[in-house]
Amino acid sequence: MADAAFNSDAVNMSSKKRSGSSDDQWEQFSAAKKHQVMNKTPPPHAEDPAAALANARHEFGEHGGVNMSIEASATFTVMEPETMRRMFTGELGPDRDFFIYSRHFNPTVLNLGRLMAALEGTEAAYCTASGMAAISSVLLQLCSSGGHVVASRTLYGGTHALLTHFLPRACNITTTFVDIRDHEMVRREIVEGRTKVLYFESVSNPTLTVANVPELCRIAHEKGVTVVVDNTFAPMVLSPARLGADVVVHSISKYISGGADIIAGAVCGPASLVNSMMDLHQGALMLLGPTMNPKVAFELSERLPHLALRMKEHCRRALVYATRMKKLGLKVVYPGLEDHPDHALLESMANKDYGYGGILCVDMETEEKANRLMNHLQNSTQFGLMAVSLGYYETLMSCSGSSTSSEMNAEEKELAGISPGLVRMSIGYNGSLEQKWSQFEKALSRMQDSSLPKKI
Ligand SMILES: Cc1ncc(COP(=O)(O)O)c(C=O)c1O
Repeated sequence: MADAAFNSDAVNMSSKKRSGSSDDQWEQFSAAKKHQVMNKTPPPHAEDPAAALANARHEFGEHGGVNMSIEASATFTVMEPETMRRMFTGELGPDRDFFIYSRHFNPTVLNLGRLMAALEGTEAAYCTASGMAAISSVLLQLCSSGGHVVASRTLYGGTHALLTHFLPRACNITTTFVDIRDHEMVRREIVEGRTKVLYFESVSNPTLTVANVPELCRIAHEKGVTVVVDNTFAPMVLSPARLGADVVVHSISKYISGGADIIAGAVCGPASLVNSMMDLHQGALMLLGPTMNPKVAFELSERLPHLALRMKEHCRRALVYATRMKKLGLKVVYPGLEDHPDHALLESMANKDYGYGGILCVDMETEEKANRLMNHLQNSTQFGLMAVSLGYYETLMSCSGSSTSSEMNAEEKELAGISPGLVRMSIGYNGSLEQKWSQFEKALSRMQDSSLPKKI
């Protein structure tokens, strides 16, 4: 398809496509209602992600509803047979409201893509069936067989497994893992001409290492390498594309959804990349097919407007709890704490007023102690739930080494800094802060009581 297929500024013109109806007045009314556009021109450099989101085009429903209508159709009709041919050559595309089939661009999914692009400050974005679909598709689009990736050694376990096992076996794409804080190492491992992608997480899962996005982009760009950043842990808090990254990927299943009820992802980047991923002959999204269901896209587009509020509260509580946990003598990892090695770096890159992220880790040193703590937190005092994932309104807790990072072997976990007793907590905002804190304290004291020798 032509590069013009995705144009985030294009006004939806489907009324033109369907013209020719006998009832002209109705046509004009419904076209006007259907495609009312809040005519706000985004400032050239909207730095604040919430402001950028609010400036994105607002779609109204077919009957004037404040919410957009869902375009649930799998396929789209045309008025003349010739139009179909022109759509397939790429001459007519979604920028002029010509749609072919919903595994390719779909209007409702495209609208969510526009919101994601506004959130991340990229030219375009498209949404996928999961975060892993976004990550695997973008890597397959950017790397051919024999291609090479340099990636952080602290990554979500699934991404680590994709790079370590799946891509070398299935596609002959290999990865060298690096300490993302060691910029000399990153520079050294990039093989000019062969390395296609530098891949890292803005804030790593689960160790909460913060990547120096501007500096890493400078190193990669000097060598012609594309920078792909997973910003799942820090939407709103960090904007990697505004800091120089070429592509931002998300597991929308986490904070952006916020409801722990949807699996979804997004690729945010240049329009040329998004369009290439939908190419009829070479596109990883079009041909592997992990695109998003429009009903899911609708649900998610209703949640993005309150992402900023949710993030602020996740982050506010995480900072309070991390500070208090540290005072109690626990080994806390949280980049909002001044003694975290990346605290100053995060402050220098973070968007104003969102905080330092909603995840904190408590290192209990052994898996047995980690499990005991989580057991009390869930089953004695209801502080949170033992579950993987993050970004939910309830606090979610998991022992990373034996769950979301279990794909890594012992040596890989050690290199990544994942201790066997590391408890990752995604801090929720349900209930009051003090109510939840008292539940935490109670669980901790019960745990201490239960470790005392029993009196006879
Ligand atoms: C940082 C990160 N990236 C990507 C993913 C994969 O996302 P999904 O589960 O939506 O496929 C996860 C899942 O836990 C994650 O934590």
